[in-house]
Amino acid sequence: MTATCPRSEVKRSPWIAIATLVALLTGCAGPPSVPGESGPRYPPRASPGVVFVPTPPDVGVEMLKLAGVTNNDLVYDLGSGDGRLVIAAAQLFGARAVGVELDARLVQDSREAAIKAGVADRVTFIWGDLFEVDLRPATAVMLYLTAAMNLRLRPRLLADLRPGTPVVSHGFDMGEWTPDRSVRVFSPDGARQLNLWIIPARVQGSWAVSVTMPDGELKATAILEQNFQRVTGVLRTPTEVAPIVEASLRGDAIAFSATVGMKPGPRTIRLRGLVAGDSAAGMAEVTGGLAIEPGRWTARRAPG
Ligand SMILES: C[S@@+](CC[C@H](N)C(=O)[O-])C[C@H]1O[C@@H](n2cnc3c(N)ncnc32)[C@H](O)[C@@H]1O
Repeated sequence: MTATCPRSEVKRSPWIAIATLVALLTGCAGPPSVPGESGPRYPPRASPGVVFVPTPPDVGVEMLKLAGVTNNDLVYDLGSGDGRLVIAAAQLFGARAVGVELDARLVQDSREAAIKAGVADRVTFIWGDLFEVDLRPATAVMLYLTAAMNLRLRPRLLADLRPGTPVVSHGFDMGEWTPDRSVRVFSPDGARQLNLWIIPARVQGSWAVSVTMPDGELKATAILEQNFQRVTGVLRTPTEVAPIVEASLRGDAIAFSATVGMKPGPRTIRLRGLVAGDSAAGMAEVTGGLAIEPGRWTARRAPG
């Protein structure tokens, strides 16, 4: 949690012991001193790939709204500048929030601003490199970086964030990972593009599927190809291979259809459900002629 970390204390060697004690007592993660050195120890830092350019306040609010931030969220702003998005997340949305910033002076300004805004108990500012921070606790991520930094960050976002986590980027894209939604917002100095991605569950691979309906059970193998949130593939039954169509994946919510020649004739199976690691389950609809039969389905990822 944030606490006041007086800037001057880490600059003057006679006060280093006091500064260290204050930092320890307050939990401040500011620049620490090291024994035998006369000044603060600044950890090796990557040079910033982007300098501080603040998001206008109204655009920041739209970023948080686009991510659907609520008071249950832990919002991360990677490259948090003067802390404005982190503070807005806490002040206006009741969320907890974490800012990660390379520039120690901006981290200090952010901590002071959070105290002034009365949200110091809900926010944390980490003085560090956003590429080295543990992202796993985040439930929403804000970015205002560059296209190159977004691309470098992309594998970490996909690997470390839980399916369904929203990631919003002010101004920049993520290469071939197309946004789930883009909006243009207008602020006094012009229009801005905001992009939203929802972290998709990992569904690539073979799944043993069982569809239970009033008149019996269908066992099949769904072989899924995944390209970010896009899913294609086939449904293999003991007698045929049918293409998977109308597939969608949003976070952990998956849906797809396939038409197979089940008795008493061709029937379209539509499966909707949730993926949880190596298993999935949900509601099935089987359409043959005019009849629509409801059922349930479960699936387990096939080993290998
Ligand atoms: C364009 S500013 C955005 C600030 C804030 N997020 C906002 O929207 O107002 C980008 C910030 O990222 C910081 N930054 C750049 N590279 C970084 C890195 N590797 N780790 C942490 N912060 C970084 C810069 O110092 C700068 O403050």
